[in-house]
Amino acid sequence: MTFGRRIPVAVLGATGLVGQRIVQRLASHPRLVVAEVVASARAEESDYGGVTDWALPEEMPDSLRHMRLKGAGEEVGSALVLSALPGHVAATVELALVEAGHVVCTNASAHRMRPDVPLIVPEVNPGMMRLVREQPWRAQAGALIANPNCVVAGLALALAPIQKRWGVRGGVIVTLQAMSGAGANGPSAVCMSGNVVPHIEGEAEKIPLELNRILGITATWSVAVNRVPVLDGHVAHVFLDLDRAAHPEEVEEELEKFRGPEPCASLASLPDAPLYLRREDDRPKPRLDVGRGGGMTVTVAQVRRSPPHGLALTILVHTTVRGAAGACIANAELAVEMGFVGRGFRMESRNARS
Ligand SMILES: NC(=O)c1ccc[n+]([C@@H]2O[C@H](COP(=O)([O-])OP(=O)(O)OC[C@H]3O[C@@H](n4cnc5c(N)ncnc54)[C@H](OP(=O)(O)O)[C@@H]3O)[C@@H](O)[C@H]2O)c1
Repeated sequence: MTFGRRIPVAVLGATGLVGQRIVQRLASHPRLVVAEVVASARAEESDYGGVTDWALPEEMPDSLRHMRLKGAGEEVGSALVLSALPGHVAATVELALVEAGHVVCTNASAHRMRPDVPLIVPEVNPGMMRLVREQPWRAQAGALIANPNCVVAGLALALAPIQKRWGVRGGVIVTLQAMSGAGANGPSAVCMSGNVVPHIEGEAEKIPLELNRILGITATWSVAVNRVPVLDGHVAHVFLDLDRAAHPEEVEEELEKFRGPEPCASLASLPDAPLYLRREDDRPKPRLDVGRGGGMTVTVAQVRRSPPHGLALTILVHTTVRGAAGACIANAELAVEMGFVGRGFRMESRNARS
C-alpha cells in the first residue's frame, strides 16, 4: 500500500469508541493516514468493517471497511502509533512499542503521570514536549506522549489564561460526564436512563493531578464527579480561588482572545480559537454546543463572581474529540512538527508487537 506524502499511522484499540473517532477523523487528514488497525485477540483475521460495532453518526471511512484488523500481539509496522487501549493493556503494550522505536501518542491514563512522559494540551503546554528528548527509549527513536483525561482536556484550556493572569490557587470542580466517556462497554441504558450516577472509578483522583501537571501549578482541588445520561459532552462547573481578584468581564475578554503559542497555528486538528464564550444564562448545553469547531472547541459560559470563591464558570468539552481522539491526533501532529517521527526510526526495530 502507498500513502503518498502522508505519514502511515497504526491505531490501537481501533474498534472502541475513541479508536473509531481516531480513524474517522484521520479519513480526511492532510498529513496522516491510517495504515494499520489493531484490536484485541478476538479480532484476528477479520475485516475492520465486519468486526467493528460502528457507533458514530458519520459513515465508516470506505478505506477502513476492508482493512484487515490486526489482533493483540501482532506486529506493528508504522513508526507512528495512536493508542486507544484500555489503561491496563496500554501499561505494557505501549512501553514495548516505544522501546522498539515507535512514537506512541496515547489516550490511556497508564503513563500520564510518569515524570518523563509529556502530558500535552498543545495550546497550553507544548513546551513539555522537551521531555521526549530525555526518555530512555529515545536512543531507539521511540517516544511516548500522552493526552489528558477528557474533562481535564477542557478544564486545562479554560483555566490556562486565567492562571496566567490571575493565578489559580485551587477551588471546587463538579462534573456532569457523558456516557461516551466510559467507552463502548460503558453503563447500560437501564443504569443510566433517568439517572445520575455520582461516582466514576478513579476520576476524582485523576482530575487534580493531571490539571496541575499541565498548568504547572500546585493548586488544591475539591472534586465531585457524576455520570449523566448524555451521549457526548462533559460539563464541569468550576469555582476558583485566585491569587488576585478578577473581574468577570476581564476574564471573558481573556478567554475570548486566548490562542495557543507558535506551533499551534500549523497543527491541522486545532481550531482557530480553542475557547468559545457564551453569555446566555442557560448555556452550555451538550446537544447544542458540543460540535463547535468539529468538537475541538471548548465552550465556556456563566463566568461570574461566586463568593466565597473568587470566580465561577462552566465548561463543556466534547468527550471523545477534544477529550480523546482529537487531542491525541493533535499531539501526533505536534510530534511530527517537532521532528520526533520518522527520523532515525530503525528498520530492524520495526514490527514490534502490539
Ligand atoms: N471514551 C473517552 O471519551 C475517553 C477519553 C479520554 C481517554 N480515554 C481512554 O482511551 C482509551 C480507549 O477508550 P474507549 O472509550 O475507546 O474504550 P473502548 O470503547 O472500551 O475501546 C477499547 C479498545 O481497546 C481494545 N482492546 C481491549 N483489550 C485489548 C487488548 N488486550 N489488546 C488489544 N486491544 C484491546 C478493544 O478491542 P476489542 O473491540 O477487540 O475488544 C477496543 O478497540 C482508554 O484508555 C480510555 O481510558 C477515553
